[in-house]
Formats: sequence, C-alpha cells, structure tokens
Amino acid sequence: MPDVIPGLDLDDLHRLPKVQQPTYDDPAEAAEVVAQLRALPPLVFAGECDDLRAKIAKVAEGQAFMLQGGDCAETFDGVRADNIRSKLRVLLSMSVVLTHASQLPVVKVGRIAGQYAKPRSKDTETRDGVTLPAYRGDAVNGFDFTPQARCHDPKRLLQVYNASAATLNLVRAFMTGGFADLRQLHAWNASFVRDSRVEKRYEQVADEIQRALGFMLACGVQDDTLSTVDFYASHEALLLDYEYAMTRIDSRSQMPYDTSGHMVWIGERTRQPYGAQVELLRRVHNPLGVKLGPDSTGTEALEIADRLDPERIPGRITFITRMGSDKVRDRLPRIIEEVEASGRKVAWVCDPMHGNTFESANGFKTRSYDAVVNELHGFFDAHDELGSWPGGVHIELTGDDVTECIGGAFQLSETDLESRYETACDPRLNRNQSLELAFMVAERVNKSRLLRHVPVEVPDWND
Ligand code: PEP
Ligand code: CO
Repeated sequence: MPDVIPGLDLDDLHRLPKVQQPTYDDPAEAAEVVAQLRALPPLVFAGECDDLRAKIAKVAEGQAFMLQGGDCAETFDGVRADNIRSKLRVLLSMSVVLTHASQLPVVKVGRIAGQYAKPRSKDTETRDGVTLPAYRGDAVNGFDFTPQARCHDPKRLLQVYNASAATLNLVRAFMTGGFADLRQLHAWNASFVRDSRVEKRYEQVADEIQRALGFMLACGVQDDTLSTVDFYASHEALLLDYEYAMTRIDSRSQMPYDTSGHMVWIGERTRQPYGAQVELLRRVHNPLGVKLGPDSTGTEALEIADRLDPERIPGRITFITRMGSDKVRDRLPRIIEEVEASGRKVAWVCDPMHGNTFESANGFKTRSYDAVVNELHGFFDAHDELGSWPGGVHIELTGDDVTECIGGAFQLSETDLESRYETACDPRLNRNQSLELAFMVAERVNKSRLLRHVPVEVPDWND
C-alpha cells in the first residue's frame, strides 16, 4: 500500500523514539490488521474536524468555552445504549449549566468513541506474587488478571474500530434525532440528579431555560440550533499502528486527517518533541491536544507547539494542563506567561483529574472532589490574573452513580469506594459530582468573561 502520509510510512514511524506501544508476538498478524483497517471507511470526516478546529479557535480567542469529558478508559463491554446515553446526558446537562451561567457558546467534546488505549506508568502488575503485563486498555489487552487476557493482541484494533463506529453512530443519532433538543431539558433529568442538592439548582436552570424557550417560540423564533447539538469525539492518539491506519487523505484538500476521531491528543508520557506520536500528529490536520504536567515548562510547551503547528493555524493546539491541586498555583502561571508572550494563540484547558490521583487507605485509586475543585480554582485564578482566557475543562466522568472519587454532593468517603467502583482505569466523577462541578466551573467562567468584557452574541464559528 502507498504511504498515506507522503514520506512517512508506518515502519519509519516505528523507527522513531517511541514509548507506551504494545509488543505483538506476531508482527505479520499486526501488519495484516493494519492493512484491514486501512481499507475501512473513515470514522469521522475531515470537514467535521475543520469545524471543530474553527470552534477551538474561538476558545483560544476567549469567545467560547470547551467542555471535554468522558471515561478514562472506554471498554468494549461498555458499548451499550444505556451507558452511552447516560454519559451524553451528563455532558449535555453540564453544557447547559455552563452556557446558561456564562452566556458563552460551549464546544462539546467527548472522551468517547476511541478512548481504548492507556499509557501506564509500569509495564507489569503484580498480585499475590504473580507478575503479568499491565492492562493497557481494551485496544491492547484484557482487564482480567490472567496470562491469556493480558497478552497483547493486534486483532483488538479491529474491535476498537467497530466499537468506536457503533458508539459514534449512536452519538450522532442522539445529537440530531431529538434527544438533544433543549426542550427535553427536564427529560434529561428524569431519574437523574435525584435527591441531591444539585438537583434543585439544575431544575431551576432548566425552568428558566424552558421559559426563555417558550418566549422565543411564542415570538416566532424557530431554529435548528435549539433541537440539535454539535458534539465531537476525541481520544488520546497513543497507538501508532491504529492512528496511522486510520489516517486518510481528504479528497477536498488532499491533506491527511486522522479519521479515528475529530480531535486527538498527546499524553503527558508521549509528548517528546521528536518522538513518534508528535511526528505522526504533526502530519495530520485534526485539532490537537497536548497534555502538560507539573514538570513541563513554557519553553517545552512552545517547542512541541512549534513542531506540531509551525504555521500557527487557529484552533490547532489545545494545551490541556494537569498540574495537581498542590502545584497549579506555582507551576501554571509561568507556563502561561511564556506561551502567551510568544504570541502563539492556544486554547487553555484544565484537566483537574490526572494530577490529583492517590491511593485510599483501603487500596482504591481515587481522587478527591475538593482537590479537583481546588485545581480548577488555581487554573481560573492564574488566567484571570494574567489576562489569558481559561478556555475549558477536561473531566473524567461517567453518567452512572459510581463511587470512585471521594467528596462531592453526597460526601462519599473512602469506605464508600468499594460499593460501586467500576472504572477500568482512573476514578471518574459520577453524575452528581459532575453536575455539581459544572455549577462551580460555570460561576468561574462567567467571572472570567465579565473580567474580559466578552460580549454576549450569536456565535459565528466560521468568520
Ligand atoms: C488520560 O487522559 O487518561 C491520561 C493518561 O492523561 P495524562 O497523559 O495527562 O497522564
Ligand atoms: Co485517566
């Protein structure tokens, strides 16, 4: 097969410095899977990626806010209508709360339909004296602690494609088929956020919006934007074989796009400026995220941005900062200052999850709701003080009533964790914690908007 990316075939890519890749026993089998994937239709279209890039450009300019969220690790078992629907409900409810309070357009991006591969800090896991390869996400191996399950299997990449296609199909149907109609606001809340202190607040917002909508309809305003929602899919572009195999040349522009998702990001562990992930993603035209941890510097961030986006295309780069609540006030301002001083415009998004993970006394990987909120306050304070725009949040969440993070509306304690701990990787906020967080974020976005005198207006993504 000819190179889909001019001058860069998959072998070239594998010869570059690379980390966090599976080790397959049979390279010929992996090559066969890649060939099969390359023949399959794209999952997303280049034009949709361009639309999202235009929206992120507005985020970078301080005229929109981004909500990115979903599972830490999707699983093949999780590809079920109820699971996908409840995740979308939470994200839509959060986005309504954010739009209502901040009066700004919210760009909605799921960690969904492709988030199947996980970087791990250790290659192996030991239980009761038995050591096996670490679970690296359903894209690579199985979660069960058996030698068979933990074996790296390239055929799983075809399952990633099918699971992503099925998920995306349902997402598209939900977003345009009536489910996302703003007039359904109360219905999203049916059997949802019940019995919590956030329920009342949400119902109040929903009532106000309902009345405003009623007023507009009575005045004769009828617009598609009230009944459908633009929603985009994103995931970490970790596996070189899969992301390369999903790259297609756009027939209009003749440019390569990674059609596995609208936006893809590079993780904290794989963002080496001359590493394989950066080399691949600098060739594709999707909007890109880059995670920045507490040890990163502004110089480093700019080096990566220059590699990925030498032409400074608006909306191309989103820096997703994940410092930790104890470090954000110390580390983040210096990075922002240096990047902003360069004149490069990026979207700044806060991931308040990945710097705040710890192990509870009873052995669960968890996060505290308070630490998440603290990091967010540190993020907003830093941007408000420096005059840069706090452009969005990136949250690991689920639509279910899991007990994976402590604190929040029901004040979950460490002993509550065992009652419903279901994540395949990192702990997620449950639906009540997510909605509560949306109210907190909404207040801060509105404050930042007022500080910067951003006017309320009809968004024009394409000007
Ligand atoms: C993630 O987003 O799931 C993740 C692994 O993040 P990071 O690369 O920031 O550690
Ligand atoms: Co995670």
